[in-house]
Amino acid sequence: MKSILLLMGPNLNMLGEREPEIYGSETLHEHVKEAERVTNEFGYELQHYQSNNEGDLVDQIQNAREKHIGIIINPGALTHYGWSIHDALAAYEGVIIEMHLSNPNQREPWRHTSVVAPVADGSIVGFGIQGYELSIRALHQIIEDDDK
Ligand code: DQA
Repeated sequence: MKSILLLMGPNLNMLGEREPEIYGSETLHEHVKEAERVTNEFGYELQHYQSNNEGDLVDQIQNAREKHIGIIINPGALTHYGWSIHDALAAYEGVIIEMHLSNPNQREPWRHTSVVAPVADGSIVGFGIQGYELSIRALHQIIEDDDK
């Protein structure tokens, strides 16, 4: 079965407790369950990994080569300055969807830059937990189109 990697960066382990007015009240476990639900609906398997450390995320992206057909990544604040994440993604041959729960473009100016967006196939931002469904649907569509 084809598999997708859901990768999450710093502070996303705090979902549910952390600024719920921005990120919602669901815990990380509930986020992963929702992503799994949709992934399975599309006939894929989901592997999830969250870390507060940049190097761990780079390792996961490197290990995803030839293992996962796509990565859905929410790099947290590393989105805005994590060039090692950018470089690791640039070397990944599968589909990349950047996803954010909030819409960083509506927030503080330092959140308006994404170093991940230039190496992603597309970005889904601002739809909260619904973003997993949108991201997985988009990823699936790209895979289908590539297979044609
Ligand atoms: C976030 C947005 C980032 O700016 C922030 O640092 C996060 C979460 C989001 O999902 O909305 O940690 O990636």
